[in-house]
Amino acid sequence: MTDTNLLFSEEHIARRIDELAGEIAKGMPRDVLIVGLLKGSFVFVADLMRALHRRGAAPRIEFMRLSSYGLEMASSGEVHLLGDIPTDISGREILLVDDIVDTGRSLAYAIALLKQRGVLGIRTCALLDKPSRREVEVPMDFVGFTIEDVFVAGYGIDYAERYRDLPHIIVVGQAE
Ligand code: IMP
Ligand code: MG
Repeated sequence: MTDTNLLFSEEHIARRIDELAGEIAKGMPRDVLIVGLLKGSFVFVADLMRALHRRGAAPRIEFMRLSSYGLEMASSGEVHLLGDIPTDISGREILLVDDIVDTGRSLAYAIALLKQRGVLGIRTCALLDKPSRREVEVPMDFVGFTIEDVFVAGYGIDYAERYRDLPHIIVVGQAE
């Protein structure tokens, strides 16, 4: 990978997450329950929760695992639940966090599932948003960066399980 593939540097991501945490801390309860979607969001959630802590919040953390892309650049279009939240979340304010929102199917699936469980409210947060790829309408409350229709990796996000360990985000190809 050469530097020309660099989309967002480590510093750029950190600065944006600090700003996002400011917006979230202002708009949500101090003990907001973050529900991260695995695996892609784990690095983002880890940094976001600490940025929220620095803003005076004390978030709780849970994760839900949804089916992945497999080894392709295009989603199968079907979402499956691979791992659920172990605790009762009724009456809680949820911040649903994903790495990227692409077609919107994963987020729509997670929202529907959480709503069935009597949560008080759900707000959504994604580090990256690709609105040009949307197939299902989903409400986006907090977005790190809006990007073009390119396939990205790094910062927890994979391409065929590679590049999750990169501290920055790169473009690995044109989607489709
Ligand atoms: P959606 O259900 O189509 O919105 O897809 C969401 C999921 O697809 C994200 O949580 C990512 O895990 C994955 N995804 C979407 N775009 C990319 C990408 O550019 N690189 C890596 N994974 C992606
Ligand atoms: Mg994901």
